[in-house]
Formats: sequence, structure tokens, C-alpha cells
Amino acid sequence: MKNEKIKRYLQVPTRTLITELQQHFHPTLLKDLAQLMDLFDIVHKKHAEGNPKLAKAYNLFSQFSYRIPLHLFREEQILFPLLIEQENGSAVLTQASFRNMESEHDEDLLMIQAVAELTDNFTPPPQACKSWKKLYEKLENFLSDLELHIAIENDVLFQRFQEKKGLKVAR
Ligand SMILES: [Fe+2]
Ligand SMILES: [Fe+2]
Repeated sequence: MKNEKIKRYLQVPTRTLITELQQHFHPTLLKDLAQLMDLFDIVHKKHAEGNPKLAKAYNLFSQFSYRIPLHLFREEQILFPLLIEQENGSAVLTQASFRNMESEHDEDLLMIQAVAELTDNFTPPPQACKSWKKLYEKLENFLSDLELHIAIENDVLFQRFQEKKGLKVAR
């Protein structure tokens, strides 16, 4: 399933891939996060009392949303420029160049998967209001966009460099 989704990216040249990540995936992620936080604030205010799982999901998602801008910044300002330099033959990449980003990806996915568990896989309860339903629908889409974004980075972009340099270790 994941392989199917990333198939079309395997043929995309590195610079185009980086441009797409910077100009499409990153801004979209930030925009979706802002909208989701607004919606989650509303649902949390109205319904978290007496609903500890919802409160926990809200706290986790808030933590997640604080982490993301720094991660994107570090990719855009540090790692991606390094990859472009490497393409030009002038950078020294090591496994450590990727390790931080990959472990943040793992943590990010774990956080959103925990949100999925706490919300019964984004299934609104029978009494859910319109905002609550909309929130869960958007969260579900958000998780699948995030999985694709991370797969493009880990399994296409980073892997390309790690294999070339013989850095790839079993994940
Ligand atoms: Fe990214
Ligand atoms: Fe990333």
C-alpha cells in the first residue's frame, strides 16, 4: 500500500522532489495543522470534560503541532541544502545527517497513531456534533497525508542518498 503510493515519486529527480516537498508538502502540512488545531480547540472546549480520551488526544495533537515547524525548518534549512550540495559533489553526508529527521518521523507517526487509537480510529461517537465529525474526518486525511510525506522523505529521498553512499542500515 505504502509502496504503491510512493511509486510515482521513485522516478522524480532529487531537486524536483525537494522543491515539491518545500513548496507543496510543507506549506500544506502547516496549513492543515493550523486548521486542525482551531477545530480541535473548539471540540476540546465543548466536549473534553468527562471524555478523558478526547482530552488526551487533544494534548498529544497539540504537542505534535508544536514540534512540526522546527522539523520542517531543519529539513529546509539544513538537510535539503546538504542533499543538493551532495548532488553537486561538495557535501559530506553521513548516516547522522539523516538520523535525527528519521527518528523524528518515527516519533511523529507514533503520536498521530496514538491519536488514532484514542479516537477509535477517528470514529465520532453517536452524539458527536458537526465540528467533532469534521475534526475526525480531517484528522484521518491528515494521517494519510503525513504517512505519504514521511514515506517520500524516508523511503525515496533519504534512501536514494543512503544507498548511493552505502550508508543504508536496516530500518
Ligand atoms: Fe518534510
Ligand atoms: Fe520530515
